Amino acid sequence: MYDNAVAAPFGTDVAHAAAILRRGGVVAFPTETVYGLGADPRQASAVDRVYAIKGRPRNHPLIVHVHEAAEVAQWAAVVTPAATLLMSAFWPGPLTLLLPKADAAPDAAFIESSSVAVRMPNHAMALALIAQAGGAVAAPSANRFGALSPTSAADVAADLGDDVDYILDGGRCEVGVESTIVSLLGDQPVMVRPGGITRAQLEALVGQMGGAPATGLRAPGLLPSHYAPRARLLAVWSRDLSAACEAHVAQCLAEGRAPRYGLLVRNSDDVAGLRANGSSPLQIIALSDDVALLARHLYEALRSLDDAGVDTIIAVMPDAVGVGEAVVDRLQKASGPRDFVKGKMP
Ligand code: TXA
Ligand code: MG
Repeated sequence: MYDNAVAAPFGTDVAHAAAILRRGGVVAFPTETVYGLGADPRQASAVDRVYAIKGRPRNHPLIVHVHEAAEVAQWAAVVTPAATLLMSAFWPGPLTLLLPKADAAPDAAFIESSSVAVRMPNHAMALALIAQAGGAVAAPSANRFGALSPTSAADVAADLGDDVDYILDGGRCEVGVESTIVSLLGDQPVMVRPGGITRAQLEALVGQMGGAPATGLRAPGLLPSHYAPRARLLAVWSRDLSAACEAHVAQCLAEGRAPRYGLLVRNSDDVAGLRANGSSPLQIIALSDDVALLARHLYEALRSLDDAGVDTIIAVMPDAVGVGEAVVDRLQKASGPRDFVKGKMP
C-alpha cells in the first residue's frame, strides 16, 4: 500500500499535525468513521487546497469538526433544542448536524451556503488535533471526489499520495462508513445521509425524521453515484445474487470478453447454490452477518476487490436496519451511473 513513488509523510505526531494546520497546511487525520482531509476553516487558501486535492466542486461545503460542543456557537447562528439534545446524546460520535450558519463564521469552508455542518468525532487523536489546531478543523473525507472513503492511513496514502502535508495515523476506523447527517434547518429533522448513528437512535430522541432531503442541499452523497470503487458495482439482494451472476457472465461472453468479477457477500449462505454459467468469481469476500462489522470493513473490502483486478463487483446488501441502512445507501450510491466521475470508469 505504501509503494507510491512519493507518499506524504505520516506518523502519530499530533502536535506536528496541528502546527501544520495552524500555518495553513493540509493534514489527513483519523476519525471513528473515515479519515478526513483537514484544513483551518479560517484560512481560505488552506480550504482551497482541500477542494483542489479532492477535485470537489466548490459548492459542496465542508464539515466543521469541533472538539467540544461549546465551539458550535462560533459557527451556527442558533443551536436549536433538538441540536442540544442530539449533541448531548451522540457527541462525540458519528453524527453531523446542519444548522443555520452564524453571520460571523468565516466563509472559506462554506461558499454559497447559508448553513453549516458541525460534528465532534469520537476519536482521541482527532479531538486532540482539533483542540491544538485552534478548536475547529474543516474536513471532507480524505478521498478524491466520488471515490471510496479511506478507513486507514494506508488508504489515504494510496489515494492522495504526496498531495497532503502529513497523514496522522490513528489506525483503522471503527465505524467504517461516514457520519449520519441530520438537517435541523426546517421544522422537522431530516436525515440527509444515513451513517454511524441509526435512524432508530435519532427518532427515540427527536421523533420521526422527515423523509425527503431538504431542498437546496448539495451533498455529493446525494448524487447518483458516489462512494464508488474503480470496478463497476452491482448491488443486489441475496435472493437475486445467483441471477445477477448468471446475467453478468452471459453478458461478458456475449461481448466476447472473459468475466473478471468479484463478490462481496455477508456469509456462506449468500453464495450457497450460486450458479454462474460455469464461470467462477475471481474473488469472494464474505464479510459478516453483523451490520456493524459489515460497515466497518465495507470500504476495505471494496478496495481489496479493486486491488484483485476485478472489473465488476456484485455485492449483497444487508437489511436496511440500524447501520445496515448506511451500508445499503453506500452500495446503492456506488452502483449508480458514473459518467460524471472523471477517470473512474473501468
Ligand atoms: O464521517 C464523516 O462525516 C466524515 C469524517 C471525515 O468526519 N466526513 C465526511 O465529509 O464524510 P464529506 O465532505 O465527505 O461529506 C459530508 C457531506 C458532503 O456531501 C457535503 O456536501 C455535505 O455533507 N454538507 C456539508 N455541509 C453542508 C451543508 N451546509 N448543507 C448541505 N450539505 C452539507
Ligand atoms: Mg466524502
